Amino acid sequence: MTERYSKITGWGKYVPPKILTNADLEKMVDTSDEWIVTRTGIHERHIIGPGETNTTMSVAASRHALGVAGLMPTDIDLIIVATSSPDHFLPGEANEVQYQLGAECPAFTLTAGCTGFVYALATAHQFIATGAYDRVLVVGSEVISTFVNWEDRDTCVLFGDGAGAVVLEVSSQPSGVQSFVLGSDGSGGEYLIVRGGGCAYPISHEMIEDKAMYLEMDGRKVFKFATRVMGEATLQAVDKAGLTLDDIDLLIPHQANTRIIELAARHLRLPMEKIVVNLDRYGNTSAASIPIALVEALEEGRIQDGMNIVLVGFGGGLTWAAAVVRWGQPAEPVELPLVWRFAPAGHRVSMTAARVRLQARQLADMASYHASSLLLPLYTFAGRRKKQSKNKE
Ligand code: ACO
Repeated sequence: MTERYSKITGWGKYVPPKILTNADLEKMVDTSDEWIVTRTGIHERHIIGPGETNTTMSVAASRHALGVAGLMPTDIDLIIVATSSPDHFLPGEANEVQYQLGAECPAFTLTAGCTGFVYALATAHQFIATGAYDRVLVVGSEVISTFVNWEDRDTCVLFGDGAGAVVLEVSSQPSGVQSFVLGSDGSGGEYLIVRGGGCAYPISHEMIEDKAMYLEMDGRKVFKFATRVMGEATLQAVDKAGLTLDDIDLLIPHQANTRIIELAARHLRLPMEKIVVNLDRYGNTSAASIPIALVEALEEGRIQDGMNIVLVGFGGGLTWAAAVVRWGQPAEPVELPLVWRFAPAGHRVSMTAARVRLQARQLADMASYHASSLLLPLYTFAGRRKKQSKNKE
């Protein structure tokens, strides 16, 4: 039997146009540009504006990824959206993305904090490797700005909004996902937590007064945990792929803090030229940070055919994960192929078709409901008549 590899054939990102700089934050909380830059490396972040949601960002990133892959939404077999900041508790974020995209496939949402994208990539890889599906869309999208307390300087300076997406396709060539490691330590759950709004502490006046709907974080504990697991997970994934660190051409870490990234790089003895850092412009976009950084590295021509890349993340849960990907795309810097110019129109057609199909289904359901409410008394009447005439005989 031929081996089924899963190769990244499409990628896209979306960040909201609205930028919040450190200077803007200086006017909101007791902080300074100097503190934020030296402690985190962040200069600015993007925040959603009117009309933008997790779904709109996910769809924008996904359309781009589908365009690069030369696929229509209806070509996709499965959608996985990694997020901790969905538009609704129900329906799931992935289901909203599936509908808005005009795709006709199963979809589910995966929550693993900032590690979500690597978890989702590993999950998609499994579906492809087992032969269940051939084409999976993997999205990391977050609107952390909606549950950050904008009066809490400990957290509000760190996060930004955005989305990134990749298309994973089956391939017989040994490129794509080579290995992965996933980790969880729920005992550290309280270090990064939104205490309220769930079943344990439902919405109430008390909960709101307690400000429990906001993200709370023990920064020092997360910092310590992050510097340890980033190195460990990378080494394990590299080893599992049958490689050594010398074989690694590029490391794309979760973008939370430049100090965490530099410490991990030092631990791994990897030069900073081999590491993608873009958090200065986006802040921590949680599950979206790795796909956004991957797309930027591609756009800058930093990823070439045959390169070994490590994606490594850590986050709430606590969770961590790393994956080794062997790049199997053409070597030249990324330019969107011609198909993308036609794709948005095609995707709109596909989305309209999905809506028409939905409305047709609703009409058919309504018609069958009315037909059954009309026919039921007739059936009952006919049934009674039959019974009566039988009794008479
Ligand atoms: N501006 C000015 N001062 C501040 C700010 C701010 N925005 N925030 C905190 N301070 C103060 C603190 O109050 C503290 O003052 P004190 O000494 O008088 O008490 C001082 O700065 C130092 O605070 P520390 O917490 O020791 O600062 P540290 O150097 O640890 O940096 C930081 C804090 C940036 C949060 C760091 O700990 C960190 O990056 N941790 C990891 C966070 C992270 O990665 N979170 C995301 C996880 S992923 C996910 O799933 C969402």
